[in-house]
Amino acid sequence: MSQFLKPADGGRRDILITSALPYANGPIHIGHLVEYIQTDIFARFQKMRGHNCWYVCADDAHGTPIMLKARAEGISPEQLIARVADEHIADFADFRISFDQYHSTHSDENRHFATLIYQRNRDQGHIAKRTIAQAYDPVEQMFLPDRFIKGECPKCGAPDQYGDNCEACGASYSPSELKNPRSVISGCVPEQRESDHYFFKLDDFQAMLKEWTRGGGLQAQVANKLDEWFEAGLQEWDISRDAPYFGFEIPDHPGKFFYVWLDAPIGYMASFQHLCDSPEGQRAGLDFDRFWSAGSRAELYHFIGKDIIYFHALFWPAMLHGAGFRTPSAVFAHGFLTVDGQKMSKSRGTFIKARTYLDHLDPEYLRYYFAAKLGPGVDDIDLSLDDFQARVNADLVGKVVNIASRCAGFITKRFGGRLAAELPEPALFAEFVSASESIASAYEQRAYSRAVREIMALADRANQYIDEQAPWVVAKQQGEDAKLQAICTQGLNLFRLLIGWLRPILPGTAEAAEQFLRLSPLTWGVLAEPLLDHEIAKFQPLMTRVDAKRIAAMLEASKQDLSVAEATQIGLEESAAATTHLLKDPIAEEIDFDTFAKVDLRIARITKAAPVPGADKLLQLELDLGGETRNVFAGVSKAYDPADLAGRLTVMVANLAPRTMRFGVSEGMLLAAGPGGKELYILSPDHGAEPGMRIK
Ligand code: 2FM
Ligand code: ZN
Repeated sequence: MSQFLKPADGGRRDILITSALPYANGPIHIGHLVEYIQTDIFARFQKMRGHNCWYVCADDAHGTPIMLKARAEGISPEQLIARVADEHIADFADFRISFDQYHSTHSDENRHFATLIYQRNRDQGHIAKRTIAQAYDPVEQMFLPDRFIKGECPKCGAPDQYGDNCEACGASYSPSELKNPRSVISGCVPEQRESDHYFFKLDDFQAMLKEWTRGGGLQAQVANKLDEWFEAGLQEWDISRDAPYFGFEIPDHPGKFFYVWLDAPIGYMASFQHLCDSPEGQRAGLDFDRFWSAGSRAELYHFIGKDIIYFHALFWPAMLHGAGFRTPSAVFAHGFLTVDGQKMSKSRGTFIKARTYLDHLDPEYLRYYFAAKLGPGVDDIDLSLDDFQARVNADLVGKVVNIASRCAGFITKRFGGRLAAELPEPALFAEFVSASESIASAYEQRAYSRAVREIMALADRANQYIDEQAPWVVAKQQGEDAKLQAICTQGLNLFRLLIGWLRPILPGTAEAAEQFLRLSPLTWGVLAEPLLDHEIAKFQPLMTRVDAKRIAAMLEASKQDLSVAEATQIGLEESAAATTHLLKDPIAEEIDFDTFAKVDLRIARITKAAPVPGADKLLQLELDLGGETRNVFAGVSKAYDPADLAGRLTVMVANLAPRTMRFGVSEGMLLAAGPGGKELYILSPDHGAEPGMRIK
């Protein structure tokens, strides 16, 4: 990958690495951490190799969802993003994600570069102005993104569908086709209104993008996807939004703002500029242009999730090129995380926030487990919790740390902490050292699972050596002190190599090992020299076993964790609309008591539940309200087997006006929470409630 950019002499490379910027409206969770851990390992590795490597990131702070969330909380967007930034920074620090700079897209630097990139593209003729008609909420006085409009599907009639596609029948359409559309913000009927928008003419960059795509900076699956997009034709990209909007106003166009996805990747530049201007950047003599000017020899790598490839492999290089900056050396996409083979789920407790994980388990475990699973491709990875426990305990505690604990005690107790002056088996040490470049090359190619396999095979070899030499037997033999010291010195030197190679993955354990061995921070270069005639400190356990009870406690805490508000917020992001359909939920606004009292919420028993032919999201339910029976169509078939529903109690809205659907009349609404699809949870009353009881 990008070999052409690397100095032929293998000298010191300039490398700038980024992870995607998380939205400033929700917590970091373990799904996010796949990417931050993957990137952090790469950055730490490059630094250990002695390269001039910098890792930057920022919060992605703009957009409608952030504006509305702040409004719902009664605070300013600035207050919201400041609070979330503090939480993100603490979570990342505790997972030992070693950003050199963590900034915000709501920053002076980002305003500067967003403006500059826009103006340069505009001056080159790459921006077009067009008038478009869009849904407008006359109560909120704002244009509505597709995901903030709901109504009945124009194809199958399913109620409560978003403005861009139907979850019941899978149809895609435009918001103007929805029947009975409603704004999810105010509940009013949207109007169609016209407004001027600014478009980035992506098609101008077709030739440049095709060449860039072939330049070796993309994974094969990603390059193939791009070919499909080229064939479909590159569409103009709407980069403007109307006020009210939380973002940067477009120069010379009052009331128009840059769309959040325009300034998000520019946040990479802004964060790096902030680093250049910081005391650390100044000390290092960091020069922005050296990394970003056209023709720069520095390597620029973006780690991203596979859902945002379109933005990073098309819009972003085109915008940069149009503005006279360099393009990325490579974009590395990764897959999504499943837990125990399924999408993360609140009810199973597998929607685990970074903070909840940290409250129960050591971050080193997860870093190791992800590394052991991560390859250079875009495949999804699974966190199997039993395997997680077994693997960490077997590999890290049972193999790696065990080597040190088997040898260190003798050195401390019998030799005053001093290692022998020579290795008894220099050939074995040399055999280990000879693996160093192969392990480095695995890291370089992001084939971390291969690196881990190679390291663990050598850990087995080191344990085999200790088993054969049996220092605990030698320790009891008269006159064998020198032999005992030599065996333990050999063992600890093999341990030092293993922990050095694992250091990008296990920075906390490596630091503790460096203290125990009294070493300065290990680099790749120093590993080949053995540690001899050197005094070490008393051994302290470097890692404890993963306890199944802690995992269970974490899952339980995760079930409690997400408030309804947060559960609703998940997925409420500026979706990568060009390529994905993220779920978004309405944002509740304040109502008075009288309005609430109008809703007749009742306990109901589900007496029958059956699939609806032709509507794969719907179930037809018969609900008993204590004598009265209602027929209700509910969009819960992805989340529930009908057989599991019959007989259970739940809560329904009993006074909703009947709705005629293609399949029949729906006489009320079932209450369920969650982002949708498989992630929907029907409410249950406490024991003792009876069908027909009114909720007060
Ligand atoms: O998809 C997301 O979570 C975006 N916030 C990622 C932005 S990455 C970059 F472009 F800023
Ligand atoms: Zn439909």
